Amino acid sequence: MTTSAWERPWCASLGRDNLGQRVEVVGWVRRRRDLGGLVFVDLRDRSGFLQLVFEDAMVAEGEQLSAEDVVRVNGTVRDRAEGQANLELASGEIEIKVEELEVLNSAETPPFVIEDRVNVSEELRLTHRYLDLRRPEMTSNLVLRHQVVAEIRRYFDEMGFIDIETPILTRSTPEGARDFLVPSRIHKGSFYALPQSPQLFKQLLQVAGCGRYMQISRCFRDEDLRADRQPEFTQVDVEASFVCEEDIFTLIEGLCARIFPLVGIDPQAPFPRLSYREAMERFGSDRPDTRFGLELVELGGLAEGCGFKILEQAAAEGRVKGLVLPGGAALSRKQLDGLSEIVRPHGAAGVLWFKRTPDGVASPAKKALGDDGVRGFLDGAGAGEEDLLLAVGGVETVVLGALGALRLHLGREYGLIPEGRHDFLWVTDFPLLEWSEDDQRFFAMHHPFTSPRTEDETLLDSDPGAAYARAYDVVMDGVELGGGSIRIHDPELQTKVFAALGIDEAEAQSRFGFLLEAFRYGVPPHGGIALGLDRLVMLMAGRDSIRDVIAFPKTTSVTCLMTKAPSPVDSRQLVELGLKERVED
Ligand code: AMO
Repeated sequence: MTTSAWERPWCASLGRDNLGQRVEVVGWVRRRRDLGGLVFVDLRDRSGFLQLVFEDAMVAEGEQLSAEDVVRVNGTVRDRAEGQANLELASGEIEIKVEELEVLNSAETPPFVIEDRVNVSEELRLTHRYLDLRRPEMTSNLVLRHQVVAEIRRYFDEMGFIDIETPILTRSTPEGARDFLVPSRIHKGSFYALPQSPQLFKQLLQVAGCGRYMQISRCFRDEDLRADRQPEFTQVDVEASFVCEEDIFTLIEGLCARIFPLVGIDPQAPFPRLSYREAMERFGSDRPDTRFGLELVELGGLAEGCGFKILEQAAAEGRVKGLVLPGGAALSRKQLDGLSEIVRPHGAAGVLWFKRTPDGVASPAKKALGDDGVRGFLDGAGAGEEDLLLAVGGVETVVLGALGALRLHLGREYGLIPEGRHDFLWVTDFPLLEWSEDDQRFFAMHHPFTSPRTEDETLLDSDPGAAYARAYDVVMDGVELGGGSIRIHDPELQTKVFAALGIDEAEAQSRFGFLLEAFRYGVPPHGGIALGLDRLVMLMAGRDSIRDVIAFPKTTSVTCLMTKAPSPVDSRQLVELGLKERVED
C-alpha cells in the first residue's frame, strides 16, 4: 500500500484517535532497541517521534535498521503496553505494529548523534548543518520562523499593506555599514552593491503611490559579526504614506500582539517609551534591558572636590556615574578586580568600588576620601548595608557604555533577570547626528533621510548636533528588534541635512540623485520601520544567537562551513569580469 504523500500522517499527529487504523508513515530511524523477540524503533520526522514495534516475522527486518536510515512503514496503530506510555510525546500513548517495511535509504553513521542534548562543537554542527537541522529543537526553530512569517504576512495584508520585492543587485544604500560588491561582467570596472536595506526603494514606492509597502527582505552588511548579527539577515521592512510616529507605534504593537502569543508571550500595548537620553542615563544603553534594576546613579556632584584626584578630574572633564549592586559587599577582591575587565573593552580605565559592611566602609579610594568621604558616596548612591557601589569616570560616552555593559554583566551573573518576564519598549528622540572624533564630521545616527523634529529644523544652520530626529527603535529584553523614522519629504530640508553631514550637492546627486529627482514629482509624507526577523524569532524561540534560527548561517568569521564559501574562483571567471587575480600583499 502506498498512501498519497498529502494524506500520509506526520509521526506526531497520530494518537489514540487512530487506534486500530492501518497507516503508512515515513521518516528517519532515531534509535533501535532490541528486546529479544521484539524490536522497538523510534521513527522521526519534522513533527516529532513515533514508536514502531517489530514482532514475530518482522523482527529480523527490524534488526537490520540503524540510526538515520530512511524508511517507509505500513502497520496498525495500537495502544502501548501497560506502563509504556510517554506522555511527553504527542504520539506517546500509541505505537505502530509494523506489517511492512521498506528501507528507502540506508544511512552511514552520522558524525554526531542527532539528539537535542548533543554535546558537539558548533563547528561540526555547521559543517553538517542538514543533520543539525534534523535535531528536534532546530526543526522547531525553523517551523516557528515559518509560522511567524506567515502571521506577519497575514497581519500586514489585513492592514492594507502590499508585499513588493526590491532589487538585490543595486547601488550602495545608506545604512552606513560596508557594502558587499558584485562586479559587472558587461560593464567592466563597475560594481553592483547588495542592499544593506531596501531603504531608498521603499521610499520610492511611496512616491509611486503604493501607500503601504511591506517586504520580508534580505539585507547584506559587511560588518563584524556578533551573536545577533549576520552578514546577510532578514528584515520585516515596512513603509507607509501619510503616517506619523504614533501610527507606526500602533502598527508594530498590533503586530507584536499577533505574533508573540505563538510562543505564549502577551505584550502589553502601548509599549512604554523612553527617550534616548533617559535610556542612556538610566541604563547606559539605547536598547535597555528594563527587566531588572541596577539603574545608573549620578556621582558627578559628589566627585567634584572630593579629594580623590582621579574622580575629581573625571568629574571636571567628563562624567562620573555608578550603580549599586545590592548585597554586593560580599564580592571577593578577585571578583571586584574582574569587573574592570568588563569595562575596559568600552574604553574605561577600570571600576572604583565602595562597600559598606558591619565592620565599616571600604574602598581603594578610602585613603584619599576618608571614612566620611566613602560614606558620602555610598549614601549619595543609595547603597545600604552589605551593598556595593561601582563607579566609573571619564568621557560621557565611555562612562555610559561601560556602566551599561557592567549592568548587563551583573544582571546575568547574579540572576537578576526574572525568568519568563519580557519587556517591550520604544526608544524615541534620538539625536539626528552623531559626531565622529576620528573623522571630525557628523554622521547620521539613523540614515540621512530621517527627518529632524519640526521644532529642531532651524538648529541645522546654527547647532546641528543639538537637533533631535523623528526616529524610534523598538526594543525587547535588551535587544534592538527594529528601528525606523519619519522621513524627510521636503527637498530643501533634505539639502540642509546633507549639508550638515558634509555631503555637498555633487555627492548628493551622484549617490542619491534618483531619489532627489523623484522627490520633485509629488512625494507624500511618509515613514516606516524595519524589524530584524532573525532577532525576533531568536527571542521568541528563547535562543541566545540568531544562528539558531537561520537555516544556513555564517560563522563569526563570515564563512559557511558546509559549502566552504567564500571560495576562490577560477581565473577564467575573473577575466570575464575584467578583474585581475590578487597579487600577494
Ligand atoms: P536598521 O539598520 O536599524 O534600520 O535595521 C533594522 C533592524 O534590522 C536588524 N539588523 C540586523 N539583524 C541581523 N544582523 C545584522 N547585521 C543586522 N543589522 C540590522 C536589527 C535592526 O533593528 N532602513 C532602516 C529601517 C528604516 O528606517 O525603516 C534600517 O535598515 O533588528
